[in-house]
Amino acid sequence: VKDIRVALIGGGFMGKAHSLAYDLAASRSHLGYRLIKDTVVDVDPDAAATAALELGWQQSSTDWRATIARDDIDVIDICTPPQFHAEIALAALRAGKDVFCEKPITNDAAEAEQMVEVAEELGRINQVGFNYRASAALKLARSLVEDGTVGDILQLRIQYVMDGGWLGDPGWRRQKSSGGSGALGDIGSHIIDMAQFLVGDIHEVFGDTVSYAPVSGGEHDVDDAGAFLARFAGGALGTFAYSLRAWGQKNRISFELDGTKGAISFDWNHRDELQVLISEDGSRTEGMRRIITSGVHEGMLFDLGGAGSGYLEASANQLTSFLHSVATRTPADPDFATAARVQRVVEAVETSRRTGSWTRVPESSR
Ligand SMILES: NC(=O)c1ccc[n+]([C@@H]2O[C@H](COP(=O)([O-])OP(=O)(O)OC[C@H]3O[C@@H](n4cnc5c(N)ncnc54)[C@H](O)[C@@H]3O)[C@@H](O)[C@H]2O)c1
Repeated sequence: VKDIRVALIGGGFMGKAHSLAYDLAASRSHLGYRLIKDTVVDVDPDAAATAALELGWQQSSTDWRATIARDDIDVIDICTPPQFHAEIALAALRAGKDVFCEKPITNDAAEAEQMVEVAEELGRINQVGFNYRASAALKLARSLVEDGTVGDILQLRIQYVMDGGWLGDPGWRRQKSSGGSGALGDIGSHIIDMAQFLVGDIHEVFGDTVSYAPVSGGEHDVDDAGAFLARFAGGALGTFAYSLRAWGQKNRISFELDGTKGAISFDWNHRDELQVLISEDGSRTEGMRRIITSGVHEGMLFDLGGAGSGYLEASANQLTSFLHSVATRTPADPDFATAARVQRVVEAVETSRRTGSWTRVPESSR
């Protein structure tokens, strides 16, 4: 059994989610490796020490460079604000590590492209934290599209809305210079990834973003909400809406997908359910079926339908899959290239906003 020694960089909100998810991922590893939660790194020494103590890391550090320089570390997991992702990832790849990086891969598509190139050149396993697609319901939705059950996709209506922008101080998310991605890069990137996961590449976009006065005062130069239309390469049309200022909405990702032979709808607030219609040519009993994900579906931790799954299970699924790639040296998914494409869509929406016109998503940002 091979040891995979992980160092986690950034012990905040997402650092906690990954720390706990590794425990779930490790408990399912019958794959010939043993996961070791070696070091948690945070620039804030208290955050690092507390994370080590409470989240089960063997040691803490405040210096990611020193941790990356260690020979015994196999995997670097990056959970810092986005402005540090590229610098840390490139250093880790060049030191021979496999890298898991939180979304957005970076706030800059050209920088993301460099990460893709270096990871490919050095043959390192690389994955990005688009965790929602790793849930059982999303895996099922994708399989129903892939195997043709719902036919050709005509339209996707997808949104990610929450009221977090009204609550608390946005911290580093407040400004671009401190790593802020705005609502588009932060939560919009999740639904762009989900849409491309389900329907395929987005070919062109037409959209706008808005900024509202900061709730807690002070400077603020990122968007808080927006909407865009998208044309997928396969011809389907998409509508996207995202907002950090939607009162009463709690981390709500939802979509409706129409195909020529059926339809799927999903709401993350009811994440164990998928609503599916398989057309029966106008039968009187035709209607959406409510499927509750269970042991027959990929991605459930317990073989008991209705036991429920949550944020951590999705996170554990993505980390299990990443660790499997690391152990078997097989490509991970969603990888840096997938996330770099998401970032190109984000930037195409920003361009469309500036030019007021439909904007093609470039095939490369170099
Ligand atoms: N996939 C998801 O569901 C999801 C959810 C939330 C956040 N995220 C992403 O995770 C990343 C982190 O977000 P968060 O909400 O955890 O932020 P956070 O502010 O809660 O935590 C970030 C931590 O990184 C530390 N840090 C900052 N710079 C550092 C550096 N140079 N070296 C080491 N540590 C450093 C900070 O001290 C802090 O403890 C972002 O990219 C964000 O978009 C993803």
